[in-house]
Amino acid sequence: MLKNTLIKATEAAAKIIKENFDKTYTISNKEGMNNLVTEIDHKSEEAIINIIKADYPDHFILSEEVGEIVQDSEFKWIIDPIDGTVNYANGIPICCVSIGIEQAGKMIMGAVYNPFINEFFFAQRGLGATLNDKKISVTQKTEVIKSCLVTGFPYTYINEENGPLQVFEKFIRKGIPVRRLGSAAVDLCWVAAGRFDGFYEHQLSAWDSAAGFIIVEEAGGKVTNLKGDPYNPYQPGLIATNGLIHDEIVRIVNGGEI
Ligand code: IPD
Ligand code: CA
Ligand code: CA
Repeated sequence: MLKNTLIKATEAAAKIIKENFDKTYTISNKEGMNNLVTEIDHKSEEAIINIIKADYPDHFILSEEVGEIVQDSEFKWIIDPIDGTVNYANGIPICCVSIGIEQAGKMIMGAVYNPFINEFFFAQRGLGATLNDKKISVTQKTEVIKSCLVTGFPYTYINEENGPLQVFEKFIRKGIPVRRLGSAAVDLCWVAAGRFDGFYEHQLSAWDSAAGFIIVEEAGGKVTNLKGDPYNPYQPGLIATNGLIHDEIVRIVNGGEI
């Protein structure tokens, strides 16, 4: 069963990242000055891929560090072996393993696990979203001015109109709390769990959002690109909210006043 393999792979990887948290490991740089990858990202990724390959040798895999393992399959596993690597490498326990499964271009299942606080988020299309097996749902907040938001910033500064800093400034000038946790997958899950009313980020990759995207939708939330159009994980910008404040956030992110 897909679900069993997904859970097995997520748990195995989470065990590796937890066990190695306090250990010494190598850290290297990717593109962008502080875009890091650790030895543990690679170990986590290897464990995930081995488990998937053992159960589904013919499935397509897209994983952050190894890239694409191309197969002629309608199933695609989208993997972030550690989301929140900068946190991890600095000993900040806000990070997770994130794995989404797409079937024929549609996200059908996702799992996000932060083993440091033992939070396992899971969703399956049409069956709702759970945190440690208990159903979760988004908030009922209807006004952005009373909302609690979260965002993330790219490793390389985006110097454009309505870029990350301009949008951030707009919210904080109005006194709206905007947190920055450093893991997009955790950000999405915390919207799903009703801790944040909304999340936006200008530049993400498929592995950052694949699992969190279905978890938010199945918790009753809404996910779009920055323009408010239907979301797919292969576009950079994302807005995820409880649905009720979505149009207002889209307007603000695109230059509208609060
Ligand atoms: C990053 C995190 C971060 C987000 C970055 C991502 P990584 O992923 O999700 O919150 O702001 O855009 O690249 O590099 O830790 O896997
Ligand atoms: Ca990531
Ligand atoms: Ca990563």
